[in-house]
Amino acid sequence: MTLLCSEKDIAPGTSRGFSLGESSCFVVKNHDDEIYVYVNSCPHLGVELEWVADQFLDGEGQLIQCSTHGALFLVDSGECVAGPCLGQSLKPIPFSLQDGNIIIEHNAG
Ligand code: FES
Repeated sequence: MTLLCSEKDIAPGTSRGFSLGESSCFVVKNHDDEIYVYVNSCPHLGVELEWVADQFLDGEGQLIQCSTHGALFLVDSGECVAGPCLGQSLKPIPFSLQDGNIIIEHNAG
């Protein structure tokens, strides 16, 4: 079980990355305050998505963006809707909220 952060630490329309030892993940909060957690690995080449720390979203905070070739992913499903991995998806990580903290059960890699 790993505590990532308090859900209050992430503003709506922003994201944050976390190291999980061998792998890494990121948390996204959409503009409706809904939280999603994904493995930080682009389905195109298996590289980490962000170029600038904690920036996994496009300029409007609407879609997840891979910085390498610009693939765009839906925040709520992780599905790629534009770019070289069209139709493929980011891998979601199950999580729970406990006392406002985002907790993942195991290190999904
Ligand atoms: S590595 Fe992510 S779009 Fe190519």
